[in-house]
Amino acid sequence: MKESNEMTLTVPAIGVNEAFVRGAVAAFAVQLDPTVEEINDIKTAVSEAVTNCIVHGYEGKGSGDITVKCSAGGGRLHIAVSDAGVGIPDVARAREMFYTTKPEQERSGMGFAIMETFMDALEVESAAGSGTIVKMEKRIKGKADKAD
Ligand SMILES: Nc1ncnc2c1ncn2[C@@H]1O[C@H](COP(=O)(O)OP(=O)(O)OP(=O)(O)O)[C@@H](O)[C@H]1O
Ligand SMILES: [Mg+2]
Repeated sequence: MKESNEMTLTVPAIGVNEAFVRGAVAAFAVQLDPTVEEINDIKTAVSEAVTNCIVHGYEGKGSGDITVKCSAGGGRLHIAVSDAGVGIPDVARAREMFYTTKPEQERSGMGFAIMETFMDALEVESAAGSGTIVKMEKRIKGKADKAD
């Protein structure tokens, strides 16, 4: 089995960190030799997960942190994005396309659907009051396999 590599990042759940975390995860993913398309898929999914922590995670609770853990190995990238905020009372419902608790803020309820589309696996663990963890996996076929 190939060696695996890990990183953990904790930052405040504030708007500027959406681009920072997206970029940091993309930089970490480079070791798997992804295509530009694969990197873009990862950035899109991470952006949705982190935005959710910022927009919904600490609603009514003031502020808190986002922790992002990544591991790379065996041609796979695992990403876990978590907050210690309000949690999601009904995860199945929240994952439905177009379900949003913030329609007045021009949210479209597409975040989880986008994560699911751009990644190979998505798991959401949450309960009201206990924070949220979103685990995603991307299999990296990489440039080497696409040479011809
Ligand atoms: N980290 C989180 N903490 C608390 N609630 C969350 C979190 N992430 C998602 N949710 C809940 O799940 C719902 C669906 O999330 P989703 O990302 O699919 O849509 P959205 O954020 O409402 O809209 P969009 O992502 O299209 O802007 C949210 O409206 C919110 O109620
Ligand atoms: Mg969202």
